[in-house]
Amino acid sequence: MMTQENIYPVTTLSRASREELLGQRSLMIWFTGLSGSGKSTLALALEERLSREGKICRVLDGDNIRTGINNNLGFSIEDRQENIRRIAEVSKLFVDTGIITIAAFISPTRQIRALARDIIGADDFFEIYVNTPLEVCEQRDVKGLYKKARAGLIKEFTGINSAFEEPERADLVIDTSKQSLEESVDMIMKAIESRITKEK
Ligand code: ADX
Repeated sequence: MMTQENIYPVTTLSRASREELLGQRSLMIWFTGLSGSGKSTLALALEERLSREGKICRVLDGDNIRTGINNNLGFSIEDRQENIRRIAEVSKLFVDTGIITIAAFISPTRQIRALARDIIGADDFFEIYVNTPLEVCEQRDVKGLYKKARAGLIKEFTGINSAFEEPERADLVIDTSKQSLEESVDMIMKAIESRITKEK
């Protein structure tokens, strides 16, 4: 009879071997902030910069997660928590594969972010608070959702009628109403450089 081990062979390739193969060290870069604060824009610009420097990375954001693996989840606090839990579990697989993993989700509460940090492991978790003022996010209103929330058409919209708890100890804070995209990416690259570079 087959044992559990035969059916699910344990991978022999360690994270360190994978990192060696890729010539980089993996890291979880976790953006948190209001809708419209610039998380996804920053995440994609960072991905582009890292890729140009020969790093393997992957962005997880609403576009590829809430439409797929999490398409059964809404915006109650329980669903947001489950959203982040699954994202963190998936991200952990990426990080263990040696890939620099970039998540861009509101992740509105301290408890939710602590959950992500616990799943991924504090040593691998780099938190960036995109602290763009609510007024600016609302002014941008890229998806027209703030208008709908103000009109009472969306319940539990973060920043309007659902809480966003500011991170207390983010590794980096960025305000996209004050810093350009390029400046912000420069700042992130500088902050993470030693964490993603493989010692020779
Ligand atoms: S989280 O709270 O669970 O982390 P997530 O980042 O996945 O949220 O999704 C946020 C995006 O969903 C927003 O940028 C917005 O486009 C959309 N959205 C729809 N309804 C809401 C809502 N009630 N609150 C916040 N964002 C919402």
